[in-house]
Amino acid sequence: MSKKDLRFNSKTIHGGQQPDKAYGAVMPPIYQTSTYAQSTPGGHMGYEYSRSANPTRTALENALASIENGNYGLAFASGLSAMDAVIKLLNPGDEVVSTNDLYGGSYRLFKQVFEKYGITFHFIGMQDAAAIESHINEKTKLIWVETPTNPMMNVIDIRAVSALAKKHQLLLAVDNTFATPYLQRPLDLGADIVMHSATKYLGGHSDVVVGALVVKDKELADQLYFIQNASGAVCGPMDSFLTLRGIKTLHVRMQRHCENGKAIAQYLAKHPKIEKVYWPGFEDHPNHEVAKDQMNGFGGMISFITKGSSYDDAIKIVEKLQVFTLAESLGGVESLAGHPASMTHASIPKTEREKSGVVDALIRLSVGIEDVDDLIADLEQAIG
Ligand SMILES: Cc1ncc(COP(=O)(O)O)c(C=O)c1O
Repeated sequence: MSKKDLRFNSKTIHGGQQPDKAYGAVMPPIYQTSTYAQSTPGGHMGYEYSRSANPTRTALENALASIENGNYGLAFASGLSAMDAVIKLLNPGDEVVSTNDLYGGSYRLFKQVFEKYGITFHFIGMQDAAAIESHINEKTKLIWVETPTNPMMNVIDIRAVSALAKKHQLLLAVDNTFATPYLQRPLDLGADIVMHSATKYLGGHSDVVVGALVVKDKELADQLYFIQNASGAVCGPMDSFLTLRGIKTLHVRMQRHCENGKAIAQYLAKHPKIEKVYWPGFEDHPNHEVAKDQMNGFGGMISFITKGSSYDDAIKIVEKLQVFTLAESLGGVESLAGHPASMTHASIPKTEREKSGVVDALIRLSVGIEDVDDLIADLEQAIG
């Protein structure tokens, strides 16, 4: 059986992998080297300088391509540097249509770094894919989708946006950080580029900062490899190793994240002090049908607000949590809680973020894989 034909839960372990050529090591060694001996100028064994390529990074890049059903994977120093590489495909004067409710750092990269180079970004709600078309003009080159969105858990119909992108000959990039390929595979749904903050679920243990891109098309891959090498924001060998190790348990971790996420979403929804819970698994979630169709589950990311929508109440809850850690980031084995308005989304102006629902009373949970009864007990004592 070819490794290309493996099912997802086997690809996480074997996809794109082979024993190391030197001694048959089952896990790729951490090739902690910047350079490689050459017998004559250009006479090397496939690697010449670790910014261009490194064997441990290659093993990770092959795994990334495999789990996302792509042909080419690229690993970066962070999720934002992976996004940075995608925007560098564009030229001054080009326009991008982007999800309005997206990770604050992504918004900051687009607005505060790239707008000054003459690239224009339109941030719009994409829950109704048809509404996107009115923002497309002859300068538009890229549609940037994040789904489910951070932190409002809106779900965007990737197939519908892809049809639009194809009609107007635009690139479609999808930030798949929240869902991971366990739940959703954007390339299969018509996207050209899938991007990850591999810092999150792919790494899975809150011990690396890594980014990833996966594509199917060779020409697009070559352009991105050129930018990766030319700009140099690559992922080091140790982080490549740790991310690869994380990917090997992605499917079992995600299964538990989804189970625990569901139990906690349901607990919060019934709580008398909770006003609103945002989780795409609820039947009354506005994009539940799309989520059911394009995802294999609903994940462990949940946002909620308390009755009265008070900033002080939200802060008191996150301060009281003991099993959940108050921290930036998400997707690790341990449960984290965050206050988007003052943490992950503080770089978005208040008026802008409130338009998409990121109010001061919003709390975001990254539900980990601990015993769910301990997590519920923790929320119970913190909410009171
Ligand atoms: C959805 C999403 N995209 C991109 C990023 C940026 O990734 P990184 O922090 O690895 O640069 C994050 C980080 O929180 C994220 O949550």
